[in-house]
Amino acid sequence: MKFLQRMRRFTIERKINQTYAKRLAAKGSRPEGVFWNSEANQINRFVTLLALIDTVTVDGPITGKAGYPVSIAEIGCGYGALYRYLQQRDAPDRWRYHGVDINPAMIAACRRNFPKEIAHFMVADRPQYEVDFSVFSGTYNLTPVEDCEQWLGYILQGLQSCWTLSRRGMVLNFLCAPEARISKKIYYTTRQDFITAATRHFGPTIAVPTKNVAGDFSFLISRDS
Ligand SMILES: C[S@@+](CC[C@H](N)C(=O)[O-])C[C@H]1O[C@@H](n2cnc3c(N)ncnc32)[C@H](O)[C@@H]1O
Repeated sequence: MKFLQRMRRFTIERKINQTYAKRLAAKGSRPEGVFWNSEANQINRFVTLLALIDTVTVDGPITGKAGYPVSIAEIGCGYGALYRYLQQRDAPDRWRYHGVDINPAMIAACRRNFPKEIAHFMVADRPQYEVDFSVFSGTYNLTPVEDCEQWLGYILQGLQSCWTLSRRGMVLNFLCAPEARISKKIYYTTRQDFITAATRHFGPTIAVPTKNVAGDFSFLISRDS
């Protein structure tokens, strides 16, 4: 990456980190602490992303059934809510999880919330080793920039560095609208714009509505299809 590009990313991420650190300090390790408006919406996002992974792994060679957990890296893990969800509600043996976040305050919260599993969480913007899937929930919703094209470029660059470490694919979600826009620092893409961009950069991409979350879509970019 060129020096100027690196500086631009650095500036963007510094602003993102300030906003999230302030929010986490105010609200704590709760959905509101990462700007979700309810736990149901947060969990429904996880459910939909994991279901998308299931569509390409349940009958494949790496299913939990066959005794091989699916390895996932959550990029933008926040305070560790997906990890908690996997531990409590989904079959924990089915998934091998690690979480990364660019925000040191989020990773510190994960380590406080899971003191026996601190090695699962790192400050980073990409998987720490090769995984089956990279998973992003809400990672790119908040943006300090005002230009949709610029923000999509930033997103695709971030996804590229995760794609090379994702053996089978990536799943992610976005708020979608009839036209791409940034409003009150929240990014909205269109379903088709993101499918087109991701297909061109990475490979076959599909979208499904996120369960019970109005306006949100979940995307699977798969190396398998
Ligand atoms: C809306 S929160 C969602 C957190 C978590 N996925 C959840 O659903 O509870 C988005 C998280 O992504 C992190 N983040 C933003 N940009 C990132 C990037 N480029 N790489 C890694 N993490 C990022 C933020 O620090 C924040 O913790």
